[in-house]
Amino acid sequence: RKEGYPHFMLKEIHEQPRVIGDTIFGFSKDYEAAASTLASSGNIFITAAGTSFHASLYFSLLTARLAGKKVIPFISSEYESYANLANKEDVLVAVSQSGETIDTLMALRSFKERGCKIISLTNVIGSVISRESHLPVYMKAGPEIGVAATKTFTTQLTALTWLSSLVSFYTGKIGRDELSEIKGRIMKLPDLATRTISRSEGWARRLSQVISSRHSVYYLGRGLGLPIALEGALKLKEIAYVHAEGYPAGESKHGPIALVEPGFPVVFVSIEKNLERKLVGNIEEMKARGAFTIGIFGEQSELVSRVDERIIVPSSDELLLPVLETIPLQLLAYYAAVAKGYDPDKPRNLAKTVTVE
Ligand code: M6R
Repeated sequence: RKEGYPHFMLKEIHEQPRVIGDTIFGFSKDYEAAASTLASSGNIFITAAGTSFHASLYFSLLTARLAGKKVIPFISSEYESYANLANKEDVLVAVSQSGETIDTLMALRSFKERGCKIISLTNVIGSVISRESHLPVYMKAGPEIGVAATKTFTTQLTALTWLSSLVSFYTGKIGRDELSEIKGRIMKLPDLATRTISRSEGWARRLSQVISSRHSVYYLGRGLGLPIALEGALKLKEIAYVHAEGYPAGESKHGPIALVEPGFPVVFVSIEKNLERKLVGNIEEMKARGAFTIGIFGEQSELVSRVDERIIVPSSDELLLPVLETIPLQLLAYYAAVAKGYDPDKPRNLAKTVTVE
């Protein structure tokens, strides 16, 4: 039931504070077992499709940063190119909200045949991916009806932030005190997500009028901002049918910038303070070509005055910004779809769960 919301997608965006809280409350001993397995494993691979892949890429970047551990991310339909690298002492993390995506399941089976340990992160207890893994862990997003993944993505990010922090603990990079301090920070997410939603709604509705009339939009980020930029682009193209590309900001001048002309919207996602100096350059390059620049920033960002439009989410904590900065991007895509008269819950050509390879 939509409980008064015009669409499931909007209802699910608004449920995020609660289900992020449920996910945090559900951090169990299973997360600890998964993290200690990861900390002592050979190579770590992480695989998923679509939005779940963006969460996986985030985990890989965060674990390099927090634990100094290499995690190899790959898109699950490409598993044949990676399976030969797998050995008995390695671990594969399979991420899928439904737990039923065939590509991710095939990747899981092929790594399992090679003797790898399988950890899964799904939203559905008893789903095939969770059943076939050695160590299933779960987000607690509740059923997601909208085809566009929203609350399952932010709960994946929350769960993977905690998993990465635990890996950092089990590899000896941080101690118990620091681990509890991180947990305390993560626990602020539900309240901050509520404030982000109320701050973003009017902004997204207004900006969607511009975005929905354009043919193409770029979403650029660096470091931890990249997976969030990729996700923003996927949401827009999936439900509003506006061509959108997510790109590493630095890479944009190696091709994509050729398309930029006056009025072309470019969204910049900034998470890491120490990468902002370089993002300034990327913003200026786009402005020099007449781009319409939009910033998704945390508090204390130094980029605020550099862009034409901005939203500032209510935190400067780099561990929390990925979840918070996702929310305005979800709302922007939602209102762009509505402005164009499309039903965001039922995008054309797409199924909620893809069961054909
Ligand atoms: O159920 P899964 O997380 O395995 O699904 C993976 C993708 O099919 C899914 O994330 C898809 O990209 C979404 N519709 C994106 O909003």
